[in-house]
Amino acid sequence: MTDAPAVPAPVDRTTQPWWRSAVFYQIYPRSFADSSGDGIGDLPGVRDKLGYLELLGVDALWVCPVMRSPMADGGYDVADPRDIDQLFGGLAAMDELIAAAHSRRIKVTMDLVPNHTSDQHPWFRAALAAAAGSPERERYIFRDGRGLDGAEPPNNWPSIFGGPAWTRVTEPDGTPGQWYLHIFAREQPDLNWDNDDVAADFEQTMRFWLDRGVDGFRLDVAHGMAKPDGLPDLPDLPEVASALLAHDDDDVRFNNPAVHEIHRRIRKLVDEYPDAVTIGEVWVNDNTRFGEYVRADELHLAFNFRLAEARFSAEDVRDAIDNSLAAVGPVFASPTWTLSNHDIEREVTRYGGGAVGVARARAMILLELALPGAVFIYNGAELGLPDVDDLPDQVLQDPVWERSGHTERGRDGCRVPVPWEGTAPPFGFTTGSSWLPIPPDWAGLTVEAQLEELGSTLSLYRMAIELRALRPDFGGDRIEWYGSPPGCLAFRRPGGLVCVLNASAAPIPLPPGDVLLASAPPEGGRLPPNAAAWLV
Ligand code: NOJ
Repeated sequence: MTDAPAVPAPVDRTTQPWWRSAVFYQIYPRSFADSSGDGIGDLPGVRDKLGYLELLGVDALWVCPVMRSPMADGGYDVADPRDIDQLFGGLAAMDELIAAAHSRRIKVTMDLVPNHTSDQHPWFRAALAAAAGSPERERYIFRDGRGLDGAEPPNNWPSIFGGPAWTRVTEPDGTPGQWYLHIFAREQPDLNWDNDDVAADFEQTMRFWLDRGVDGFRLDVAHGMAKPDGLPDLPDLPEVASALLAHDDDDVRFNNPAVHEIHRRIRKLVDEYPDAVTIGEVWVNDNTRFGEYVRADELHLAFNFRLAEARFSAEDVRDAIDNSLAAVGPVFASPTWTLSNHDIEREVTRYGGGAVGVARARAMILLELALPGAVFIYNGAELGLPDVDDLPDQVLQDPVWERSGHTERGRDGCRVPVPWEGTAPPFGFTTGSSWLPIPPDWAGLTVEAQLEELGSTLSLYRMAIELRALRPDFGGDRIEWYGSPPGCLAFRRPGGLVCVLNASAAPIPLPPGDVLLASAPPEGGRLPPNAAAWLV
């Protein structure tokens, strides 16, 4: 790897909001660091690792849900959105994390879940105890069933996690009763956003956290809150009902145009906190429809998953970049880039696993950090962690495993805890026994093993993030494509940075310029396959 040249003065970012080009680090709290010894990561654990995150150079954290939850879906089933679960250290631990992160100039964004609550939320319990047609039921989506005695679900919608999206309740008098909608697990009843209580309560939740100092929110299923009138059947059932990522723009469960009014209302409130950001989880393919979510009066940012969906091929990657830029360009929004998160296979595994998977993942983080916009890094990606695909059946916790009738193993493989130090599991993650077993062969992947190793993936991330923050070569919010050999791509930022990706099978000559950083050392001026380089 080529040593970085002397670093010039920091880039002036004062002219644009911090989040437009921020590096966000996603913390999946259960798997990040455990301070209590119960085997499950928690917020004091995160606070203890802030020095590491500062060293890594990230601008902001996205903390996955830590609110009160029975954990039927890893915290995405929220029983009280304005309290922190004791599992994660309670409310005081969140306050401490916010303060400690801010003292290191790291922003903190929280994950809010507007589409549904837990079935243990007081509202849902009240709805079950109340009668059909009651105001309590109006906050959710209760319907009478179809068929004889209402024994069939109100429509044919499947749950994203497998099985039907409806569950029939037993009425307080003991008779079989109405059905409620849950696009995800049955423990996650969908809220009715046509009901005023729902929007008002969500506003209260946002204020509660913003007033405590959080810097914004990642909004879960941000394309799902509005449901179509009459809840029509899906004309074509998705081939794999339980595939989390199989998304079709015409799927009436999502992307209802009425959702934009909800985002406008959210934005209006968040604008009272000038530096705060909203980031929507938006699964939409069509560029125009995607762009609608990030119009000036809606979300600040929306996750674009095209890069995470692209194969490691120059054509696919280029296509993903072009589409991501085309989606946000017309509305002057900032693009976002992500290679993995807690719902999808880690990039090392997706790109083929083993040494090739790691080499490609290293190349792709350089490509990603060379692009204009905000970058999201999933905890552990900076260590080059792969998915663990041989977790024993009995430890699996993702509701997908049960709901799919054990046909889909779900997302636990990408949620295995982060290895920090030492030579044997649980690698300093906990003093107890980690909630998912960590493979013994991760000894070489720990933070400790990589921190001072110049050629490690962790060092590559650190150098890349630092250069991106400091060098003026990364200026400008456009890219220009460069000519490149078949199977490769190259682009240039207006500030002068050139990024080259070699996705072909042969070494390629590099364009003129000095190599600022490379994911694998160039030899004789040639970049090896499965590698990327930055030139200035
Ligand atoms: C998307 C989240 O990222 C995922 O983990 C969760 O299961 C669903 N939304 C439901 O909340």
